[in-house]
Amino acid sequence: MSAPLLEVEDLAVEFLTDHGWVRVVDGVSFSVGAGETLGLVGESGSGKTVTSLSVMQLIPRPPGRIAGGSIRFEGRELLGLSDQELEALRGEAIAMVFQESMTSLNPAFTIGDQIGEVVRRHRGVSRREARVRALEVLELVQIPDPEARIDAYPHEFSGGMRQRAAIAMALACDPKLLIADEPTTALDVTVQAQVLDLLRSLQQRLGMGILFVTHNLGVVADLCDRVTVMYAGRMVETANVFDLFESPQHPYTEGLLQAMPQLGERGKRLAAIPGTPPMPWQMPDGCRFHPRCPYAEAACAEQDVKLDDLGEGRSTRCRRHAELKLEGAE
Ligand SMILES: Nc1ncnc2c1ncn2[C@@H]1O[C@H](COP(=O)(O)OP(=O)(O)OP(=O)(O)O)[C@@H](O)[C@H]1O
Ligand SMILES: [Mg+2]
Repeated sequence: MSAPLLEVEDLAVEFLTDHGWVRVVDGVSFSVGAGETLGLVGESGSGKTVTSLSVMQLIPRPPGRIAGGSIRFEGRELLGLSDQELEALRGEAIAMVFQESMTSLNPAFTIGDQIGEVVRRHRGVSRREARVRALEVLELVQIPDPEARIDAYPHEFSGGMRQRAAIAMALACDPKLLIADEPTTALDVTVQAQVLDLLRSLQQRLGMGILFVTHNLGVVADLCDRVTVMYAGRMVETANVFDLFESPQHPYTEGLLQAMPQLGERGKRLAAIPGTPPMPWQMPDGCRFHPRCPYAEAACAEQDVKLDDLGEGRSTRCRRHAELKLEGAE
């Protein structure tokens, strides 16, 4: 087996706040292989965006800092690279798409000029060649009538089309890795499904690795091969999608599965996980999930829980996982 595209190991990220330096991502490790989609899931504030921004060192500094760990791309350490070296990777080997397409698109330039600019920067091709490539990728993401739309400004596109354009821009240089942070959350359900279909078919054709950030397990089931579940800045479980849905090994994962709307529609009670996640400056001792966990014992509040390697790419951070028979989604 060749080295995975992306390896994140023991990542720690901190922000300077009124409470001092607060660690919001702690001991996060995962990998993404070529042609593989890894889902990163968890409730709001669990550290998904901070983790995904850390890969290209895009967290705002200050107030943020990467306090430890290793991030390797094709075996090469990214932490410590100069801005220039990172800039060379950004948009070329590693591309990103964000929740709000306006974060990626500049309102002052036409769609075609923006995509062309990325191509020219990384490929050093002529304006004309860059425009041809822009047309190609707009076609690839199924923008209707791309010849007519290429000279439009972002505000002239619908939300769904803007998100497609942002994806087109991300794909313009054939990245090996795509980092997508909630790229469909702002879209209505039908358009969301279309964009997910698009990503799936593009991945099959282009063989990229995708790190897909979402709070939606339904989307994970649709798109991802493997999943890492985060809670309060830590990863609590990693598994392939089938195993995760069939036999979750962490009570938090079970809670997320039971809160999925699809299950509610099939007659099961829709049960949101009671309580709220802790603030990063008030992380509970022991297992961070124990205050909300229906299976917590006294020891869960006292002992720090290590990530337990279960083999075959599965791991969990629950001291009771072997004795609990947690309920899957089906
Ligand atoms: N610039 C910042 N300054 C201080 N704290 C921050 C900053 N950015 C993020 N955080 C904190 O880091 C933690 C993780 O935030 P992050 O945005 O990664 O969550 P998330 O899992 O992406 O949530 P969501 O589902 O809402 O997007 C949160 O507690 C957040 O308040
Ligand atoms: Mg986020």
